Amino acid sequence: MSKDIVLVIGANGQLGSVLTKELQKIYGIDKVIASDVYSVPNFEGIFQLLDANDSVTIEEIVKQYSVTQIYHLAAILSAKGEEQPLRTWDLNMKMMLNVFEVARRNVIDKVFFPSSIAVFGNLAPLQNTPQSVFLNPATVYGISKASGENWAQYYFTNYGLDIRSIRYPGVIGYQSMPGGGTTDYAVDIYHSAVKKQPYRCFLSAATKLPMVFMEDATRATIELMQAPKENIKTRTAYNIAAMSFNPAEIFAEIKKVYPNFEVEFQPDFRQAIADKWPKSVDDSEARNDWSWTPRYDLQSMTAVMLEKLEEKYNTIKLK
Ligand code: SER
Repeated sequence: MSKDIVLVIGANGQLGSVLTKELQKIYGIDKVIASDVYSVPNFEGIFQLLDANDSVTIEEIVKQYSVTQIYHLAAILSAKGEEQPLRTWDLNMKMMLNVFEVARRNVIDKVFFPSSIAVFGNLAPLQNTPQSVFLNPATVYGISKASGENWAQYYFTNYGLDIRSIRYPGVIGYQSMPGGGTTDYAVDIYHSAVKKQPYRCFLSAATKLPMVFMEDATRATIELMQAPKENIKTRTAYNIAAMSFNPAEIFAEIKKVYPNFEVEFQPDFRQAIADKWPKSVDDSEARNDWSWTPRYDLQSMTAVMLEKLEEKYNTIKLK
C-alpha cells in the first residue's frame, strides 16, 4: 500500500479542483488533503481551510497528516495580477516560498509547483519556443513564475528538495472556471455557445496561443510527479505542448455544432499580454524525459467540452 499523503494547496481553483479528484482516485480519498482559503459546499474528502501566506498553518497540516507530497497551485494569474502588481508579487512569492520552506524542513518527498507560458517574453522566439531560452516576462505573474522556477532549481540543488514543474499553456476544462487569466476566453467561449449567448472576445481573432485540455493537463502533472527521479533533468519547469489556436479557429470549430453562434472581437488590456506569449512551444524535453504525449486537439476537445457543458446546463434547467 502506498504511504503517500498528498496535500493540495489551492484545491478549489480551476486546476486544483480537477486534480484533487484525480489524486483521490490514485491515492485514496482519505490520503488527499484538499486546502484552500475558502471552502465549497458538499466537498467529498478531507478539506482544511488554509491561507498559504501562513506558513505556521501549512506546517501544522503537514505534521498533523504526515504529508509526503505537496501540490502548490494557489496563485494570482496574469490578467488579475496586473491590477495590483506589488500585492501579486508579495502573495505569489510568499505562498511559494512558504511551501518550499515547509517542504524542506519536513523532508517532504515531492513538491509540485506550476509554472506557465507567462515566463516567456518578446526576447524568446515565439514560434516553437525552446525549453531553455532567455526569459523576460512582461507580467508580474510571469515574473513570479520565472523567479519561482529559479527557486525550485535552488531548493533542488542546495537542499535536494524534489520540486517538479510544468509551464502550463492555457488550460481548458468543462469542470471548473479559470479566474483572472489571459487564456480564459477559451473556456468562456464554450459556456456562451452552449447557453446560446453571443460572446465578446477580449483577444483579437488572430491571437494564437498554446492551450491544453484539462484531461491532458492533469495527466501531465501526475505523470511528471510519478516519473522516476533520475528522469527529471529539468529542475526549473518543463514546456508542454498540446494544441495552438486563435479565437477565430475555436469559434469556427464551435460554429460547426452551433451555426448561429456569434462572436464579437473587442480586445482589451489582455491583448498586450497575449502578444508577448508564445504561439507554440517546443516540448521535446518533456517528451524525452517522462514520455509526455497529449491526447486532445482542438476538434476532440471541442466535442467533449460541448457535450459536457450541454449536460451541465440542461441539468441546471431541469432542477
Ligand atoms: N492561463 C494562465 C493565464 O492566462 C497562464 O498561465 O494567466
